[in-house]
Amino acid sequence: MHAITAILALAAGSVIAAPVDTVAERATATELNTAAKAAGKVYFGTAVDNGDLGNSQYTSEEKNTADFGQITPANSMKWDAIEASRGKFTYTQGDVIANLAKTNGQKLRCHNLVWHNQLPSWVSSGNFDNATLISIMKNHITNEVTHYKGQCYAWDVVNEAINDDGSGTLRSDPFHNTIGPAYLPIAFATAHAADPSAKLYYNDYNIETLGVKSTAAQNIVKMIKAYGAPIDGVGLQSHFVSGSTPTTAQQVANMNAFTALGVDVAITELDIRVKTPETSAELTQQATDYSSTIKACKQVSRCVGVTLWDWNDKNSWVPGTFPGYGAATPWDTNFQKKTAVYNAIISAWQS
Ligand code: G3I
Repeated sequence: MHAITAILALAAGSVIAAPVDTVAERATATELNTAAKAAGKVYFGTAVDNGDLGNSQYTSEEKNTADFGQITPANSMKWDAIEASRGKFTYTQGDVIANLAKTNGQKLRCHNLVWHNQLPSWVSSGNFDNATLISIMKNHITNEVTHYKGQCYAWDVVNEAINDDGSGTLRSDPFHNTIGPAYLPIAFATAHAADPSAKLYYNDYNIETLGVKSTAAQNIVKMIKAYGAPIDGVGLQSHFVSGSTPTTAQQVANMNAFTALGVDVAITELDIRVKTPETSAELTQQATDYSSTIKACKQVSRCVGVTLWDWNDKNSWVPGTFPGYGAATPWDTNFQKKTAVYNAIISAWQS
């Protein structure tokens, strides 16, 4: 039996402050972030990985706020980076990204607090009992969220909790196995107590269209609220394959299912991979596919923004994980804009 500690009765709910959308803003909205803001969104952004910051071509575009008004650390705020050994918190690399956001005037999406992956072995193989693991998880969340208090527009509190096998069940991981589903509301309540202003998100992939996994994510939102813990949004990662991405209508219907529960949505990790070496026909298709997702976010008022994972093909995680696929981002391996993709995103925001 899973003992459940008391959940703080914290009110959920969030109000999005719509950015100013003036005629003047629309006229100059020819970059990714300016166009997103002119369409009423809070930001357009990108993942940023510490290991890529040594390249000046990378850094000069990364800080271009006309394109990127928001950044997400790709790795340096994850558990293995922050608390590699129990109780020893190291913020050096995470702070690099947080300071970039501060210096450049970009919003920071903080990623992530509780995930089965990139979890140090002292946690994953610790065989802790229920009370001890709850205390370890709460300590991790409280320490990290407090460290970044006031700096995170949003936190991905729990990442990828649902199995990807079509069952819609929660993953077998140390948190679920030991604490039970209550680890989710406990995590959200703990994050809220440490930084009441940060928007708290559940973030996952393959939940971008209606279906078993999306329903399971909706059930997570309901469960967290039923426990009296706050949740502000759901992150739709959107790691897509060109030529088989969901239509705008499918994505809108899915977003509406989440917003009907009283939460925001965000596209948190958008990339659209193609078979490599890519042909011009494939890149044309990719431009259409990017457009479909941007249009969906445009059409849903509670879709707050879009984040690329990553912004260029040289630094993208895709070829390393999916051999034979790549070219997934709007900039090529030489940091050159793919004009068709870039312009398709702008046009979609203006549509
Ligand atoms: O930093 C080490 C380096 O010292 C070492 O030499 C090198 C050798 O492999 O590895 C480097 O670490 C890599 C790290 O990225 C930093 O680049 C890891 O091996 C590699 O596994 C890790 O991959 C990250 C992946 O999450 C791990 O699951 C990707 O960069 C990151 O983009 C990716 O991001 C995830 C999101 O967090 C959640 N959603 C899916 C998304 C894509 O997988």
